[in-house]
Amino acid sequence: MDDQDISDPFRARRQTAGTLVADFAGEQIPMILRHADVRRAASEWQTFSSDAPMRVPIPSEEAVRSVRQLPIEADPPLHSQFRTLLKPIFLRPLAPDYQAAIDALIGRLIDAAAALPQIEIVREFALPLQSRALTYLLGMPEDAAEEWIGWGTHVFHDGNDSAGKGAVLDRYIRDALHAADGAGGTDFFAFLRHATVDGRKLTLDEMIGIANLTFAGGRDTVIHAVSRIIAWFATHRAELDAIATDPKRIAFATEEFVRVISPLTHIGRVCAHATPVGGQTVQANERVSLCWASANHDETVFDRPETTRLDRSPNPHMGFGSGVHNCLGATQARAILRSLIRHLGLRTSAITVVSEQRQYEEQTAYRRWVGYDQLIVRMAGR
Ligand code: HEM
Repeated sequence: MDDQDISDPFRARRQTAGTLVADFAGEQIPMILRHADVRRAASEWQTFSSDAPMRVPIPSEEAVRSVRQLPIEADPPLHSQFRTLLKPIFLRPLAPDYQAAIDALIGRLIDAAAALPQIEIVREFALPLQSRALTYLLGMPEDAAEEWIGWGTHVFHDGNDSAGKGAVLDRYIRDALHAADGAGGTDFFAFLRHATVDGRKLTLDEMIGIANLTFAGGRDTVIHAVSRIIAWFATHRAELDAIATDPKRIAFATEEFVRVISPLTHIGRVCAHATPVGGQTVQANERVSLCWASANHDETVFDRPETTRLDRSPNPHMGFGSGVHNCLGATQARAILRSLIRHLGLRTSAITVVSEQRQYEEQTAYRRWVGYDQLIVRMAGR
């Protein structure tokens, strides 16, 4: 099996049928595979609804949390109210001082890595990077990240360690909200305490649901993207040197990495009423999947989709989703990935992969390469 097959296990079904009915924990869910169909379904929220607590992720998350994540598990107009509320926080990475902080963090991490004989990227580089960068977004001190790093690469499951992890996050959020109550702080939890939608304060469950998504959403996705970008440049040094001083070329490259990697394979929607999908009828309250990873490899939209082409343009990928729920954390993710590419080019002269253990998303209907369980590299500094 070559890299094309493991990144894009949907190719044959996308070409012949456009959908793949897959079994997820006993639930048969049609995955929508073609770019045009995924984009259309993502825009038709009245039919393909997100108003489904715990059931937007596939498999669903009733076992690992008890609150509705917001804004992702709501339809307009409720969704729009929460999204408008949160937008100023999630757009913070656009500020120059924020960018400088990310650059300094990544510079420090790369220099420290280059000073070591070798480094394990997933847990010793990508995870601390993701967690420390999140402290900037949430207006918290950087050492708050140490506890978050201890949660591992995924807040609900990390390798075989899944027991009780959702409860650890829930406890942390409840404690942080409790501490922020009346304390006069300015961080994310204080913001949630004071926030209003539609002229009223948020309920405790709404605050928890927002915080839960903020911690869960951009974690393994960012970690996979960071790890795979480092591994790719280990074997494509000339391409790194060619773009590293050009912000525009770095921005194109970042989009291409998000397309090729597609860190979030797919996400669910619940049919509001009986709906034809790929030759079958999905009944009301049953689910479909919007398969971003397949859409991002659709050969009718992307020329030679299996090739990583850093200057691909146009690049209408849906790695960050599409429609009203498009990724609110994309500004943060882009800030991290762009800065990473720039500083890998500026601060290293060579990256060598010592060993790798790939992580696959294993389902009964497909097996897809998403990232690494372990990636050991040597970085040579400049
Ligand atoms: C490369 C990294 C990332 C990828 C590939 C990614 C992917 C996605 C996708 C595909 C969606 C759409 C979900 C849907 O349609 O139901 C989404 C939504 C969302 N993401 Fe991300 N994400 C990333 C990073 C982040 C980060 C860093 C954060 C937070 C710090 C974040 C927070 C969110 C939130 C809050 C939503 C919900 C938006 C809404 O419902 O309006 N994501 N993400």
